[in-house]
Amino acid sequence: MATIYYGSVINPKTLTDYDALPRCLIAVTATGNIDWIVEDVVDSMVQETIAQHGLTDDTCVVTLKPGEFIMPGFIDTHTHAVQVPNLGIGGEFELLDWLNNYTFPTESRFESVDYAKRSYPDIVRRVINSGTTTCCYYGSLHLTATKVLADVVHEYGQRAFVGRCNMNWHGHSPDYYVEKDADESMENTVKIIDHIRSLPHSSAGEPLVHPILTPRFAMSCTPDLLVRLGEYAAEDQGLVIQTHISENKAEVEKTLELFKCDSYAGVYDRYKLLRHNTILGHGVHLTEHEMRLIHKRGAGVSHCPTSNFYLSSGMARVGMLLDHGVKVGLGTDVAGGYSPSILSAIQHASIASKMLAIQDPSGEKCSHGHHGHHGHGEHCQQGAAEHHEHGGHEHGGHGHGGHHNIGEFTNQKLSIATLLYLATLGGAELCCLKDRIGSFKEGKAFDALLVSIRDETGNPAIWGFNPGRDVDGHTSHEIPRDPLKEGLERFLFCGDDRNIRRVIVQGKVIGGQELKL
Ligand code: GUN
Ligand code: FE
Repeated sequence: MATIYYGSVINPKTLTDYDALPRCLIAVTATGNIDWIVEDVVDSMVQETIAQHGLTDDTCVVTLKPGEFIMPGFIDTHTHAVQVPNLGIGGEFELLDWLNNYTFPTESRFESVDYAKRSYPDIVRRVINSGTTTCCYYGSLHLTATKVLADVVHEYGQRAFVGRCNMNWHGHSPDYYVEKDADESMENTVKIIDHIRSLPHSSAGEPLVHPILTPRFAMSCTPDLLVRLGEYAAEDQGLVIQTHISENKAEVEKTLELFKCDSYAGVYDRYKLLRHNTILGHGVHLTEHEMRLIHKRGAGVSHCPTSNFYLSSGMARVGMLLDHGVKVGLGTDVAGGYSPSILSAIQHASIASKMLAIQDPSGEKCSHGHHGHHGHGEHCQQGAAEHHEHGGHEHGGHGHGGHHNIGEFTNQKLSIATLLYLATLGGAELCCLKDRIGSFKEGKAFDALLVSIRDETGNPAIWGFNPGRDVDGHTSHEIPRDPLKEGLERFLFCGDDRNIRRVIVQGKVIGGQELKL
């Protein structure tokens, strides 16, 4: 059945701009694609506008209430489904000790297919109800458990990438949780990819769940396995790749030593794993040299600030990545991150950017000709020069669509428009689905959230809309503000699952408070 939504809509446009449309009509086809959009329609013209587009009998019109709005669903570009059981524990450690003490023991439980079958439905349900319509999942190293994860995601109707971890380097993973050898790792990689590609397609005739090549991180894979993964990927250019990079200082040092390489990005590049569809988790300690290489290859970074704070990893220089033309999305990195919600990632991305701005009291930006003091022993305008030479469009659409001046973001606070972009369109760009999701446009998939900040949602953190209290004709002396933009900001900073009435993927309601009723 086709559906038409009428009411407030938030639509991201670029890194610095979004539309807040209080009276928008969006029509969605029975297959879940956006049929048409009329951005500003007064109440009295709604029926006529719909009629002009040819209303079929089988159309449901949903009129939003005051305090409700529709926005694109969140895209979580880096999370570990298998680590959800560890949410909120282990924050006393840094990365390498945390992996050994908390993460590997928990992941090894998924050797039991029965445990996977009991756990993954609850895990995926939580992620969906947090408002994530597209999710890049890491599973465990187990083939069968990861098939179960893909099957559950598919059954629940979420858009996703599901990866089985490659990790065969004995000594760098514990004996009880490591693949036998590179042969076994490759065999199971082919099997999980084939399994995921055999799942039925969506109503729009395309896959909703995609495979993703997942070498866990450089030091978990032997060089001969990395060679084979790179060769395998070269034969399949559309296969998206995810891995971790430069998250923690001790990890970086160990990696450079093991691979005798002078940069972490250089290790992945050596094995042909750095390319247009590589999603690099974290990137906290990337140098500008690496940023230029990542941009040149068209790869992008999943910024996971909740995890980076929780595991004391540091603060990724997101503004500088953007100024280098690198694609950036947000990731929860459960359970390095203690929340499965992209809302937490948004809040922490904002806070991290403010801390970076404070740490650079000169306030000078990375800009043409006059670079400020960066305190990283590097000259930012080298990046700017490179950026000019290789301009974002030279790589066939790599690099974010938001046109901006060089130096616009480095060490600056991220605005609401930028945060919204990273959580939606930026994520879509990172996983190479920008022509399908991330914003509302005719022909794109309708992957959306129906958000409510009305008091009746029961979230005491939000000063929500309450008609009995707020509508009395009193003229306020406050500066006039846009109530819809304020509503978005309140939701991003104070909202939670209670404010998400519907989670919609490919036009279909797959989660949210309404589905629970
Ligand atoms: N590096 C290698 N494995 C992991 C993981 O599971 N989580 C995080 N945050 N970093 C990693
Ligand atoms: Fe991670």
